[in-house]
Amino acid sequence: MQTQTWRPREYNQHAQFVSNFGVSVVELLDAQPGERILDLGCGEGALAEQLKEIGTEVIGVDSSPAMIEAARARGIDARVMSGDRLTFKGEFDAVFSNAALHWILNYEDVIQGVYASLKPGGRFVGEFGGAGIIKCIVNAMNEVLSDHPEFGKFVNPWFFPTAEVYAAALTREGFRVVSAETFPRPTPLANGVGTWLRVFADHVISGLRGDQATRFLEQVEELVRADLYTPECGWMADYVRLRFVATKP
Ligand code: BEZ
Repeated sequence: MQTQTWRPREYNQHAQFVSNFGVSVVELLDAQPGERILDLGCGEGALAEQLKEIGTEVIGVDSSPAMIEAARARGIDARVMSGDRLTFKGEFDAVFSNAALHWILNYEDVIQGVYASLKPGGRFVGEFGGAGIIKCIVNAMNEVLSDHPEFGKFVNPWFFPTAEVYAAALTREGFRVVSAETFPRPTPLANGVGTWLRVFADHVISGLRGDQATRFLEQVEELVRADLYTPECGWMADYVRLRFVATKP
């Protein structure tokens, strides 16, 4: 499988809804001026910037060098670091994460690293893709790739757990789980499923030749059209979110 490459300009153009929805996760975090906050998977730093404006001392980490460069351009103290290899020890009042944890398959290492990064009494607040998210799109991708073995195999890069699985993992690591729940969030895709795939399934598309990529996108779009498109609402992705709050005793 190819790896996912992030292009900040394209992300800003087509995926602004991610940080727009993240504003309510920032509210849930309820950060206070002076707190030291880790933004895990900060991307291009839109939400880290909001946390900074509140008066917190925010550090952003992300595994994408391009995203970190974009976050630094906004004035964020941002570092290239993968969420499953955090190196901080007991220094944060809170770890915040929006729309990033589903990209890291070894979630237990993430939780361990977050726990180690927090001060006693610190909190871990986040939101990411929950069980069932983009089921239609994943099924269609699988179908097209199995019809075209020459396109390669679909290797799912995403971790979309149930609230129960994630809460149990947090508890095993020593967290006290305050809340963990999944909920549907139908998400408008202004530029259609093809554009969504180009941004979020780059790990599949980048392995295809130009003509193969075009056919792949057309065929996936055709397969999901009946479920995800209506003339009244346009394209709507079948998103499900998992939102949680946990504290380190
Ligand atoms: C997201 O960032 O919201 C996302 C990414 C990949 C699949 C589903 C959702």
